[in-house]
Amino acid sequence: MQNVDQRGHWGSKIGFILAAAGSAVGLGNIWRFPYITGENGGAAFVVVYLACVFLIGFPLLINELAIGRASGKDAVGAFRATRPGTPFVITGFLCIACCFLVLTYYGVIAGWTIGYAVASLAKTHIAFEEFAANPVYSIILLGVFILMTVVIVERGIQSGIEKWSKVLMPLLLVMVLAVIVRSVTLPGAWKGIEYYMKPNFSKIHATVVLKALGQAFFSLSVGWGLMITYGSYMEKRQSIVASAFWVVFMDTLVALLGGFMVFPAVFAFGKAPDSGTGLTFITLPSVFEQMPAGALVGFMFFCLLTIAALTSSISMLEVPVSYLVDEYKKPRRIAAWAVGILAFLVGIPSALSSGACKWLTHIKVFGHEGLMDILDFFVGTAVIVLIAFLCSVYVGWVWKPKAAVEEISQGAPGFTKPLIGGITMAHIWVLFVKFICPVVIAIVFLNIFGVSLF
Ligand code: PFF
Repeated sequence: MQNVDQRGHWGSKIGFILAAAGSAVGLGNIWRFPYITGENGGAAFVVVYLACVFLIGFPLLINELAIGRASGKDAVGAFRATRPGTPFVITGFLCIACCFLVLTYYGVIAGWTIGYAVASLAKTHIAFEEFAANPVYSIILLGVFILMTVVIVERGIQSGIEKWSKVLMPLLLVMVLAVIVRSVTLPGAWKGIEYYMKPNFSKIHATVVLKALGQAFFSLSVGWGLMITYGSYMEKRQSIVASAFWVVFMDTLVALLGGFMVFPAVFAFGKAPDSGTGLTFITLPSVFEQMPAGALVGFMFFCLLTIAALTSSISMLEVPVSYLVDEYKKPRRIAAWAVGILAFLVGIPSALSSGACKWLTHIKVFGHEGLMDILDFFVGTAVIVLIAFLCSVYVGWVWKPKAAVEEISQGAPGFTKPLIGGITMAHIWVLFVKFICPVVIAIVFLNIFGVSLF
C-alpha cells in the first residue's frame, strides 16, 4: 500500500460525512462555543453565530470541498493544480501553518480532558486553576494526546480516520444528551436557559461579530485547508452540497447542545458565564457530582470529549501530513511522526501558559492575555478568517466559478437545475462566493483594525 496509494480515499459516503463532521465537531463545540458565548453576551451572540454559519460558513465549506475534489491534492497542491502560477498558493501555506499551530494548543486542552476523565474515575475533585497550572500534568497529557493523534493518522484514511469516526461520533451525541437532561433539571437552571435564549443586541459590536465569524470557521473546520484535503479524498459521485449540509447541521446541533449542557449548570451553581477558557471544566464536574453514578458519567463524558477532540486533531495533523506525502513523496508514517513530535515540542510553551510559567500566562498582546489566548485569537481566529476570505476570492475571481460549479454539479445534478424563475442553487452560491462572503468578511476584518465603513 505504501507507494501505490499513499494518498488514500474514503471507503463510503457516510464514512466521509462522519469524518468531516468528526473534524468539525470537537472542543470547538463543547469547550470553545460555550465560553465565547458566555464572554460575548449569550443569546445575541448565538444569533450572530448562526447567521455566520449558514450565510458565510456553509457556502465556503462547499467552496473548499470543490477546490479539494477538483484538484485531488493537498492544501498547497490544490491551488497549484487548479490555477498554476498565482500567488494564492500562499493561502495553502497559511493553512498548513495554522493547522500546525492550533494543533499545538488544542492538544493542551484535549490533554486536560484526559486528566479530567481519569480524575472523575478516581472520584478526585480537581480545582481547574490548580490542575491547569501543573506543568508536569499538562506536558505529559499533551504528549499522550498527540501520540494518540499520530497513531491514527499514520494508519491512513480508511483504516484510521474513517473507521474511528464512524464509531465515536454517534456515541458522543448520546452522551451529550444525557448530560443536558441533568443540567436543565437542576434547580435554578432556568436562568441559564434564559441567558442562552433571550438576545440582548446592545452587546453586539465589530469584535463580537469577528469572534462569531471566527468561531463559525473554527467550529466548521472551514478556512484551514482541511476541507480541501478531505475533499481531495472524495469520489466524484458523492454530492458535495449534501455532504456540506450534513456537516454544518451536525456541527451546529452539537454546538447548540453544548450551550444547553453548560449554561443551565453555570447559573444553577452560581458561576459567572464569562469565566473564560475554564468554563466547561469548572461547571461540568459540579453537574456530574449531582448525578446518580456521577463518577462513571463524568468519566464517560470526558472520554468522549477526548474522542471528539481526537477526530478533530487527526484532521489538523492530516493537513501538513498530506502536504508532505503529496509534494515531497514522504511516507505517511514518517510524515505523521515528524509533524507530531514537532507539534508536541512547540506545544510545550502553551502547556505552561495556564499558570505554570508566569511570563507565558500573563504576556499581553492587544488585550489578549496568555500565550494560548494570543494564539487562539491571532492564529485560530484572525488568520483563519483571512484564509476563508482568500479562498472565497480565489474561487470567485481567479479559478472562476464556472469551473467550481462544474465540479460541484458532479454528484449533485440538482445544483444547476432551476429552482424558481430560472434561478439555480449554483447562481445563489456564486453570488455568495463572489460578493457576499468576501465583502462581509472584509468589512468585519477592517472594523477590527479601526476602519469603520458605516
Ligand atoms: N472544528 C474543530 C472544533 O470545533 O473543535 C477544530 C478544528 C479541527 C479546526 C480541524 C480545524 C481543523 F482543521
